[in-house]
Amino acid sequence: MISTVPSLFDRSLSRSGSGIDAFVDRHTDEAAAIEYGSGKVALRDGLAGVVEPGENVLVPAYLSLAVVEPFHELGLESRFYAVQDTLAPDVADLEARIDDDTVAVMSVNYFGFPQPDLEVIASLADTYDLYHIDDNAHSLLSVHEGRLLGTSGDLGITSLRKLLPVPDGALLYCTDGTVTAECSPSSLAGRSDRFTARDWRFVATSAAGAVLERSPALYRSVERAVSDGDGSSAAEPGDRYEAAKVPMSKLSTLVIDTADPAVIRSARRENYHAWRRVLSARDDVTMYYERLPAGISPYGVPIRASEPAAFLAELEDCGVVGAHTWPTLRRCVREDETYETARALAEELVVLPVHQGIEPSAIERVGTRLRR
Ligand SMILES: Cc1ncc(COP(=O)(O)O)c(C=O)c1O
Repeated sequence: MISTVPSLFDRSLSRSGSGIDAFVDRHTDEAAAIEYGSGKVALRDGLAGVVEPGENVLVPAYLSLAVVEPFHELGLESRFYAVQDTLAPDVADLEARIDDDTVAVMSVNYFGFPQPDLEVIASLADTYDLYHIDDNAHSLLSVHEGRLLGTSGDLGITSLRKLLPVPDGALLYCTDGTVTAECSPSSLAGRSDRFTARDWRFVATSAAGAVLERSPALYRSVERAVSDGDGSSAAEPGDRYEAAKVPMSKLSTLVIDTADPAVIRSARRENYHAWRRVLSARDDVTMYYERLPAGISPYGVPIRASEPAAFLAELEDCGVVGAHTWPTLRRCVREDETYETARALAEELVVLPVHQGIEPSAIERVGTRLRR
């Protein structure tokens, strides 16, 4: 079976690595990196010192629904700009939304790949004197042309949950001098010094997942029961944000201190290429990105399927339970035709799992079972 996320009990953590801190230090000579429990709270603290209530932030329409919650907590308006089919910004739409109260513009390195037309966003930020937020929640380990993703703007974030078997964890990168000087991290910055119920719950879920993986049907039923039980799948974005207000848990710090960035990146890349081989025979599925540039550690394999629901069902029959469409859009985006491209992408783009706990041979086996 191929699951969504790596487990605490899979091969990727069986060896001791140099840890995430050393990797981040090596790539952030000019940026301060501050630890948090969640990327959303990191965003809030990073911006708090340089914004005023009543101002607005431009964010791409193709974005999961809770990401703008920290802006709202700061009294900011989130203004969604349209995106193109390539995930580059629709520059005319973005520029038309800038006014005297615009304080920042955000770009997103989707799926661990660099934001297309990043330089256009950076240049608009310069022209209009806006802070540029470089959101790299999807892949802590992606480096493009020598630069760690997330460190190109005036501030940036990355989220550890997308990459590692951890209950929480994120980094805030402060790159600009003013942002750094004005940033005064809240009590949610830093590491928890003791284990909490949240840690033990994560260990128990991870252990149960490792056992249940041997029986995909049972795994799916339990997964459904668990998400029905705590309502997490239906949680309101504001509730999700409130639940994310924790420092980095003790369990997360143990995992990041032993993780091996080189092993993780190379396993994810290998799995990406395995999916490419497996899908090359199908004419109803295309890879979203033509290339996997050197240095990129993919969060997943985004693909376009002519019939996404049927393809997901077919994958599930082959034991792939970790594939999904992404993201769930904010209602104001779902209901506005200006964001037609973002809405189409959210329905059609399927993300396949590539995490370091998957053996490439498991992907090859799925390939032999997929019809057509
Ligand atoms: C693009 C993007 N930015 C930010 C976040 C927030 O990260 P976190 O879940 O660590 O708060 C997410 C989470 O899904 C995301 O997809």
